[in-house]
Amino acid sequence: MHVLTVLDHPNPSSFCASVAREFMEGAKAAGHTTELADLHAEGFDPRWNAADIIANEGGEMPVDVLTEQARIARADAICLIFPLFWWGMPSMMKGWMDRVWCWGWAYDQLDDPELSMQRPRSGVLLVPAGARSDEIIDDGYLDAMETSWIKGTFGYFGLSPRKLILLYGSTGSEERRKALLKQSFDAGYTLAPANP
Ligand SMILES: Cc1cc2nc3c(=O)[nH]c(=O)nc-3n(C[C@H](O)[C@H](O)[C@H](O)COP(=O)(O)O)c2cc1C
Repeated sequence: MHVLTVLDHPNPSSFCASVAREFMEGAKAAGHTTELADLHAEGFDPRWNAADIIANEGGEMPVDVLTEQARIARADAICLIFPLFWWGMPSMMKGWMDRVWCWGWAYDQLDDPELSMQRPRSGVLLVPAGARSDEIIDDGYLDAMETSWIKGTFGYFGLSPRKLILLYGSTGSEERRKALLKQSFDAGYTLAPANP
């Protein structure tokens, strides 16, 4: 498969950047080709704007959106990597999703989140989170993310199968971080094929 990794982090030495590297190494070790969209390094503008509205109404698509859509078009699998911020995604990833996966290209209906205009692609979210697993699961945050992302969003994108992997305790000990990087490698190595 051709695997697109989309990274939202401004620091190339960050834990998130290491997660992206490990995931791609795992994917390569399994025989996949890889491509990285490093949104901060590339200066992607995440602000949904007037040109996007015109495009949604049938006008010309902004060039930066077309570039991202071409990347998606050649991918068979997509991995999104971003740090958990306020139990959600940071603004760069959010804006990339808002602008790129737009009405008329990704979906053209609101009633069925399992219908997409895109072909099925394997999808995985690798999300480093500072909190421990019990803090995230017991208080319902994981369920909330599963509902809004896995149930409510990524079906519209055609991601099937799709999986949310929270990397709990990402700000913890070196040992902990090493284990999370191994988990990231394994996520690339064991990437499921897209559903037919
Ligand atoms: C603005 C901000 C909000 C954050 N919100 C959360 C949160 O809601 N839950 C959580 O577990 N960690 C939260 N964190 C911790 C980050 O998820 C953690 O620092 C990050 O995964 C570490 O990755 P990095 O070293 O690549 O930045 C937050 C951090 C920042 C800076």
